[in-house]
Amino acid sequence: MPQLLLGIGVICVLGIYALYHRRLKTIEFASNKEKPLIIAHRGSSGVYPENTKAAFDAAVNAGADYLELDIQLSKDNCFMVIHDATIDRTSNDSGEVNGFSEQELKQLDMGTWKNAAYKGEVMMTLPEVLSAYLPKISLLIEVKHIKDIKKTAALLAEELHKHSLPDGDRIIIQSFDRSFIEYFHTLMPDIAVGVLVRKVNSSLVNSLRPFAAYINPKITVATPANIELIQKAGCKCVVWTVHTEQDRARLAYKKMDGIATDYPEWYT
Ligand code: G3P
Ligand code: CA
Repeated sequence: MPQLLLGIGVICVLGIYALYHRRLKTIEFASNKEKPLIIAHRGSSGVYPENTKAAFDAAVNAGADYLELDIQLSKDNCFMVIHDATIDRTSNDSGEVNGFSEQELKQLDMGTWKNAAYKGEVMMTLPEVLSAYLPKISLLIEVKHIKDIKKTAALLAEELHKHSLPDGDRIIIQSFDRSFIEYFHTLMPDIAVGVLVRKVNSSLVNSLRPFAAYINPKITVATPANIELIQKAGCKCVVWTVHTEQDRARLAYKKMDGIATDYPEWYT
């Protein structure tokens, strides 16, 4: 008898959970004419090791619209795909990313920190991502840990010019460093650029709108009024980052242009 009651209890909990998810999925974009773009933050990084092939492949398979990835320069000026300034958190070694060459960074195991099943994932380079994924999916590329704005922008433009670049916003370059974005825009005015922001107000929006096609706010400041302020200035708005179900619920009914999430599969 207690086992039967326990069984019924488990079924009820699972049923309520499933209904909640279904309801959330159907109401989420009810007020939007169009669904926001779903941007896989560091790939499908909720489950797979961030910024790796495993995470990017999973995001493509989940039907995400964009891959978000973080890039920074190695000691020998190759753009490597990694978020932190050091390799400590996401590899089997330690040290500053820009203290190693591309070849040295390529030796690292970038998967085991997340789960032993992903042992052997290697750090990707930007050229590898552009060649492998641009034919399949759009890219939101964030430039991190910029030491020299002009040098980094010139190297990025040089790298992008090596690839056959699609029209429109299939590649977006974003950064928290607005000076970098403003300068990069002068080198490649046909590539859409975005500035990541932790606050939104009209003077900030007005100062960014001349060059930033995207003003991308942190989820905590992505109020309907702030989203509208950005969009009325003629910019698009990608909100970052949905890490949890609570984050996801927080964005329900809002009219942003895109959502960066660790779990693109929640939306597709
Ligand atoms: O897409 C925006 C988001 O990636 C910015 O934060 O720290 O995850 O790079 P972070
Ligand atoms: Ca990022």
